[in-house]
Amino acid sequence: MALPYFLFAFLLTIPGAIVSTPTSPKQVDDKDLIHIALNLEFLETEFFLNGALGKGLDSIAPQLAEGGPPPVGAKKANLDFLTKNIIEEFGYQEVGHLRAIISTVGGFPRPQLDLRAQNFAKIFDQVAGYKLVPPFDPYFNAMNYLLASYAIPYVGLVGYVGTIPNLVNSTSRRLVAGLLGVESGQDAVIRALLYQRANEKVFPYHITVSDFTNRISNLRNRLGMTGNKDEGLIVPRELGAENRTQSNILSADANSLSYSRTPPEIFRIVYGTGSENKPGGFFPNGANGRIAKEFLAAI
Ligand SMILES: *[C@@H]1O[C@H](CO)[C@@H](O)[C@H](O)[C@H]1NC(C)=O
Ligand SMILES: *[C@@H]1O[C@H](CO)[C@@H](O)[C@H](O)[C@H]1NC(C)=O
Repeated sequence: MALPYFLFAFLLTIPGAIVSTPTSPKQVDDKDLIHIALNLEFLETEFFLNGALGKGLDSIAPQLAEGGPPPVGAKKANLDFLTKNIIEEFGYQEVGHLRAIISTVGGFPRPQLDLRAQNFAKIFDQVAGYKLVPPFDPYFNAMNYLLASYAIPYVGLVGYVGTIPNLVNSTSRRLVAGLLGVESGQDAVIRALLYQRANEKVFPYHITVSDFTNRISNLRNRLGMTGNKDEGLIVPRELGAENRTQSNILSADANSLSYSRTPPEIFRIVYGTGSENKPGGFFPNGANGRIAKEFLAAI
């Protein structure tokens, strides 16, 4: 009797059994799936609040951070009046999203976030394909801040689109549908503001706004490793609405439906490492929540 029991216990603890958990839908519950997004909501909250106000979650609703460390390098951006008002509103919206998620499925401590200008500079070097001189600074002006923001709600949006079909509970689905609506609105506003200036060069680089967006989208597609799910502001007609437009104010598929991403794709992108097992990027110590932790434990 003892032998089969030990064999069974051993099988439960081999790494393969742990690694396979996140991909096995039966063992992942709604809370685990929504917790992936909670990481992104923390990122957006801190980037937007600090960018607009020069202070973050700890000044607005500290209890929601559940004792997690403050972000490093987040600061007030040099924004014009219009952009500042928009980003301030987005920041408060993210606080609401945190509260909604935490009160519906429970939360976890805010993960360590790296919002230093140098970190964005590294990402934008990858975006450009060479070292930008001077280094890209997201806090320098509204244009840079909007380009840095272009990278953020969109990842949440495609994650939510991917999550909803896997949620079993109607309370969870209602929550995520509500989050998706506002994230896609934020993405649309950011993209429309950038689209107005699509052909301008981003000072002092010789890269236009639309070219930057295409390159950011390309980088995310490379990191996600699942083909084209992310498109810049001006595209070949084959990627435009009904193959008829080069403008691409919203990024969407051949039927103009939002692209969706899986949990591994989301982590590969926000870690900037192309691996859900290897933390980095905005999350130097990795994301929180069961699914993220299991991927990280699989290194
Ligand atoms: C759905 O999820 C909510 C929030 O986690 C929970 O309170 C509720 O009991 C769940 N309903 C069912 C039918 O599982
Ligand atoms: C657009 O082009 C793609 C191929 O590039 C094709 O699969 C699709 O059916 C076309 N859509 C329309 C509406 O013509």
